[in-house]
Amino acid sequence: MTEKNEERNPYSSIRKVIGVVSGKGGVGKSSVTSFLASALTKKGYRVGILDADITGPSIPKMFGIHTQATSNEQGLLPQVALDGTKVMSINLLTENEETPVIWRGPVVARAVKQFWTDVVWGELDYLLVDMPPGTGDVPLTVFQSLPVDGVLIVTSPQELVQLIVKKAYHMAETMQIPVLGIIENYSYLECPDCGKRISVFGESRVEDTAAQLGISVLGRLPLNQNYAAAADAGRIYEVENEYIATAVETVERALPCAPRGE
Ligand SMILES: Nc1ncnc2c1ncn2[C@@H]1O[C@H](COP(=O)(O)OP(=O)(O)OP(=O)(O)O)[C@@H](O)[C@H]1O
Ligand SMILES: [Mg+2]
Ligand SMILES: [Zn+2]
Repeated sequence: MTEKNEERNPYSSIRKVIGVVSGKGGVGKSSVTSFLASALTKKGYRVGILDADITGPSIPKMFGIHTQATSNEQGLLPQVALDGTKVMSINLLTENEETPVIWRGPVVARAVKQFWTDVVWGELDYLLVDMPPGTGDVPLTVFQSLPVDGVLIVTSPQELVQLIVKKAYHMAETMQIPVLGIIENYSYLECPDCGKRISVFGESRVEDTAAQLGISVLGRLPLNQNYAAAADAGRIYEVENEYIATAVETVERALPCAPRGE
């Protein structure tokens, strides 16, 4: 792994860094990051989530973490969720998790870098970086300062979204970071009575967009009230999400790490 200009905390050993991005807000990026993290954790990998969404952090709540991070002489210690996933987020550093962070861009960018330089991640196979939506300051900072090995793009089926997906793709491309593929969320709703799939947001164009960019669609997640309920209850890691399996396999294949005990 090549080091970029930011030095990792000397007490961290991280094998692969994966950025999870979206063009637009609210497409389910944090949920997908969480599903992916807990699926990898379940497979025996050591996994962390760096919540780079400083102004809209949501990872701790989804994993039921409400206690503040502590530190020792080595640095800042991440919290560990019940399933074993390590988490660092601005929410673990503010006195009250409801306190809004009203910082300007450079301060936000510095906080994200500190999650790399000052956090004692320990030994990790995969560090997933949950980005804020869009192609702004923070993704740029992460791509420039952290050794990101690959990017996953999360999207929803709306037509306009496909344009912003391309933007997100080109940002990664410009930074010479491989895009592992696209995951579509809110793809359809399955009728609980007859199993019929209803395309709530219209017919998906994600396959077209992916083909145009020469990348793969790694999964299409339905709208499922259990996902939101589990996230709200802080137990997102309990969701058995079969729709994330291909994305997990792709990560394992494209960015291999031998799981613990092998
Ligand atoms: N497939 C789904 N079915 C039902 N609810 C979902 C689904 N995906 C996400 N949600 C819910 O939608 C809300 C937004 O999801 P999430 O926070 O993952 O989006 P995000 O893209 O990270 O948003 P932001 O842009 O604010 O960071 C959450 O309450 C989440 O539980
Ligand atoms: Mg989010
Ligand atoms: Zn029906």
